[in-house]
Amino acid sequence: MPTEIVVPLLIRDLTEADLPHCGWSGSRLHLEHVARELGRDDADYLVACVAKSGFPVGKGLIDYRKTAGAGTIGQLAVHPALQSCGIGTALLLAAEERIRAHGLSHAELGVEVENPRARALYERLGYVAYGTEPDGWDEVAPDGSIRRYETTCTLMRKPIT
Ligand SMILES: CC(C)(COP(=O)(O)OP(=O)(O)OC[C@H]1O[C@@H](n2cnc3c(N)ncnc32)[C@H](O)[C@@H]1OP(=O)(O)O)[C@@H](O)C(=O)NCCC(=O)NCCS
Repeated sequence: MPTEIVVPLLIRDLTEADLPHCGWSGSRLHLEHVARELGRDDADYLVACVAKSGFPVGKGLIDYRKTAGAGTIGQLAVHPALQSCGIGTALLLAAEERIRAHGLSHAELGVEVENPRARALYERLGYVAYGTEPDGWDEVAPDGSIRRYETTCTLMRKPIT
């Protein structure tokens, strides 16, 4: 029988000191990109961390410049060992709170068309699909080379009341 243990988490702004502990969230290239973006004054990076140790277990970006009147949530990831425990939902709700505090009327996000589980989570939280757009980023191949990954994302939005 599983033992249930409550682990208090804290959601706060991501700092450069968190990045060496965020290897679970993406490649070296991704973390270098996050490090460059941390200084932006039109974006917030949130991190969910274990309250006692400060160890990061989930993260996400809110971009305030992509769409006028909306905050765009992106780069959402939860440590693989802790997925389906509610951390992604907690991060999304905290991101929506930030967007509301900025006086914006909508939260937006893009989800890859091949990621139905993430899309189902967003739909459960009230996001509605309204279009698609191509997306792409550089990633590190198993042989260490860098290759371009191209994909299509479903765009979703939710009114923030
Ligand atoms: C998508 C992702 C960010 C969601 O985070 P998460 O922490 O797993 O999400 P949640 O736990 O809040 O909700 C997801 C699931 O847990 C369930 N859940 C929510 N709260 C729960 C709780 N307190 N206890 C148990 N299960 C819970 C939800 O019903 C949902 O069910 P599902 O397994 O059918 O999807 C995460 O799975 C992830 O990092 N995936 C890989 C990267 C990725 O796809 N990112 C999205 C890019 S758009």
